[in-house]
Amino acid sequence: MQIQLKQLCLQYDCEGRKSDVLQDIDLQIGRGEFIGIMGRTGCGKTSLVQLMAGLLTPTSGQVLIDGEDINSRHYDKTILRGKLGYVFQYPEYQLFETTVYRDVAFALKYSKLSKKEVEARVRQALEDMGFDFAAIREESPLALSGGEKRRVAIAGVLAAQPEILILDEPIAGLDPQARDAFLKLLKKLHAQGTTILMISHNADALADCAHRLIVINDGKKALDGTVEEVFSHEEVLSQMHLDVSFASRMSKKLALPHSVTYEAFVQNLKAKLGGDAQ
Ligand SMILES: Nc1ncnc2c1ncn2[C@@H]1O[C@H](COP(=O)(O)OP(=O)(O)O)[C@@H](O)[C@H]1O
Ligand SMILES: [Mg+2]
Repeated sequence: MQIQLKQLCLQYDCEGRKSDVLQDIDLQIGRGEFIGIMGRTGCGKTSLVQLMAGLLTPTSGQVLIDGEDINSRHYDKTILRGKLGYVFQYPEYQLFETTVYRDVAFALKYSKLSKKEVEARVRQALEDMGFDFAAIREESPLALSGGEKRRVAIAGVLAAQPEILILDEPIAGLDPQARDAFLKLLKKLHAQGTTILMISHNADALADCAHRLIVINDGKKALDGTVEEVFSHEEVLSQMHLDVSFASRMSKKLALPHSVTYEAFVQNLKAKLGGDAQ
């Protein structure tokens, strides 16, 4: 297992009172999985992924990455930084360099890569995020639009070519075209072997990309399974104020075989209409 959470608990100190944010989370994540994480606002999603990334320390329990406890005193956190990329929610607020190039190259500053290799990585990451490298490289990040800033910030994480990519609501607020292009890129990275964990409220996007969904409710793991399995619990999800995908909802309404992606839904619908017409 690449990522293992064992009996993970997190409490925050709230004006002297301890409040439980995450309770007894056990989780096993294999190399190359694409996992969606869902849950209503405040349920603990961000805290969960920050624990995996070593950005928060658990109150109790363990986070193992490639079998090593990342919170052990002997663990060298530079190893984790080398293999895990973390895209914060609203990463666009974290741009601070004078040019786009410098911002994207920042994560490679302490790597052993040559100047030429750094440039190749920066170019690739910016092109992957839909930019014309020559046109954008000397721009000031501050002069870009909100969507462009976010794409630059994500390029900064991709340039390090992480084995594990964690994204906290990366598509919220993107326009449909930018969102679709971004999801396509995630699918490409996944096909190349990257392990991806994406928090999102967008059930359609998760159905489109992820293979497995983990639902967090009130600090606990409520559901964990394939997208098909999790979306078959429409009522349970609705009680948690969560949506299933359009395809999942419509296939139930139309009494079609259960499907979660738009493509599968259309195919099933066509098959039914074709069958009925005969
Ligand atoms: N630094 C903090 N101090 C105290 N409470 C916090 C802190 N960060 C988050 N919380 C609380 O922890 C809970 C889970 O937050 P979070 O992990 O951000 O949830 P989500 O990402 O699902 O919206 C919320 O109730 C939130 O108010
Ligand atoms: Mg959050």
